[in-house]
Amino acid sequence: MKRFLISLTALATMSLPSSAQMKIETLAHDHCNIRIASTEKSKYLLLPIEEKAPEADIRVIANNDLQRNIKVRLAQGKVDYYVPFLLDEFRGKELVLTAMLNIDRTNRGGVGSEVRLKDIKLSDSFDVSNKEKFRPAYHHTPEYGWMNDPNGMFYLDGTYHLFYQYNPYGSMWGNMNWGHSTSTDLINWKHEPIAIAPDAHGTIFSGSCVLDKEGTAGFGKNAIVAMYTSANFVPGRGDIQTQSLAYSTDGGKTFTKYNGNPVLTAEIADFRDPNPFWNEDLKAWNLIMSAGQEMRLYSSPDLKEWKEESRFGLNLGGHGGVWECPDLMKVPVMVNGKYVNGKSKWVLLCNINPGGPAGGSATQYFVGDFDGHKFTVDDESRYKDGKALWQDYGKDHYATVSFYNAPNNRKTVLAWMSNWEYANDVPTRQFRSANSIARDLFLYEVKGKLYLGSRPSPEYDGKGLDKTYKINGSTTITLSNAEGDEFKIIYDQKAMTLTCDRSKCGDVSFSQNFPINSVAPVHRRLTSLRIFIDNSSVEVFGNNGEVVLTNLVFPKSPLK
Ligand code: FRU
Repeated sequence: MKRFLISLTALATMSLPSSAQMKIETLAHDHCNIRIASTEKSKYLLLPIEEKAPEADIRVIANNDLQRNIKVRLAQGKVDYYVPFLLDEFRGKELVLTAMLNIDRTNRGGVGSEVRLKDIKLSDSFDVSNKEKFRPAYHHTPEYGWMNDPNGMFYLDGTYHLFYQYNPYGSMWGNMNWGHSTSTDLINWKHEPIAIAPDAHGTIFSGSCVLDKEGTAGFGKNAIVAMYTSANFVPGRGDIQTQSLAYSTDGGKTFTKYNGNPVLTAEIADFRDPNPFWNEDLKAWNLIMSAGQEMRLYSSPDLKEWKEESRFGLNLGGHGGVWECPDLMKVPVMVNGKYVNGKSKWVLLCNINPGGPAGGSATQYFVGDFDGHKFTVDDESRYKDGKALWQDYGKDHYATVSFYNAPNNRKTVLAWMSNWEYANDVPTRQFRSANSIARDLFLYEVKGKLYLGSRPSPEYDGKGLDKTYKINGSTTITLSNAEGDEFKIIYDQKAMTLTCDRSKCGDVSFSQNFPINSVAPVHRRLTSLRIFIDNSSVEVFGNNGEVVLTNLVFPKSPLK
């Protein structure tokens, strides 16, 4: 196909009308205005994206007032795909997107100054039909664009709400919003409008939602209150991370930001991912936050005024990277696969990046007690000298947090099914990243020690989504396809390990960190393996969740 490139320099004196209602004005070789007349009626401005292009800094201006800043990899060489910029909210206003293009000279053999301006267009529709062979069928994915951590998950009146770190302007990390999806069965997901968008305090990083039954925060009884990190990147200074609130009085459909934001600040660069919860014993709120490589614990009567209670973890567990996305909850102890009434322990989930057991990001956990003020582990020796316990030993299981208010007091969690080592490079385009299936947490005891198990949530039982193998001794199961791709699951009863090998399974070329074995220690002999395969992922549950490995795969055709 003939490549048709427009040189901005050559256009310096003219405008390029894509329609009577849109003009592109070039201000310099690396600077242009996309101007949309107040009379324009289209629903979207479609922006052409090239993933290799550097991010253009775009200021969105309506009637001369700055509305927001966004970063978009505007296509310079070729168009990989489009993203829609919604025009609805600017209807009747003169809209200007001023783009600083950060021209990529290295990539263009010195030509530079080429941007695919002719590909910017107005449209009434944006095609979201699936174009990806690797899109899973029953795992949650964003309709288009980038997704990382699950955020603010809660359950209310029969519906699971999943919010997530979302870039609506490209399938790589950036422009963090809270995307939103809902489901009644954890299998079929409905895409909802963006729930929380960036503001003057920053982009919207990870956080959590609570159900404020008594209206302690002053937003009304049964308000859903979201607490999240506002991340404000200041060039030359780095991120300023503060904690903000938004609330919903319509069950999570729409959120209003609290005018007193931020509600919590600290003199530390990495201070984020707030996770508040109601403590019935204290009759107050508790909050766990990650701060560098430790957790900080707080209490509050109203979700707004926070008192620091204690810190946890500087000398315990894995410290290969920053601590992120904490969760703290009481998890039931199971004996012989059955819940023992009333028996439970506190578990602290701590996501860490890098430093995971298979490299990169992973979820570690600590078992102990929490009295509303301080979290203490049962047995420090299990976490000394860099020792750590991991919820999932696969390579693609991160940012795990639980649903608030899950039915029957279940501790139901979801993870982001990727790894920061290569998340931006995996071979999908229309969307990037899926969530794991939901799992219900439990503790089980082996030789006097409690371990965290993750059982597929009961919503998946009997739906024909999984394969179950009864095993007796060392076993290798090979998942394969007609093209000869192989994913091996190896149980070694002598070594007491469960290993996943994806090194010969389809596309592994996009990162040297991808074709790597993940190995889990097995604490008690395995008698069953339960496997969920969904186009681009394999989740393996030994003894229905006592040992778990979650891994991505990109085979030539689906594995069987
Ligand atoms: C974890 C994380 C969080 C942060 C978010 C930003 O993957 O780094 O700590 O809030 O992603 O998108």
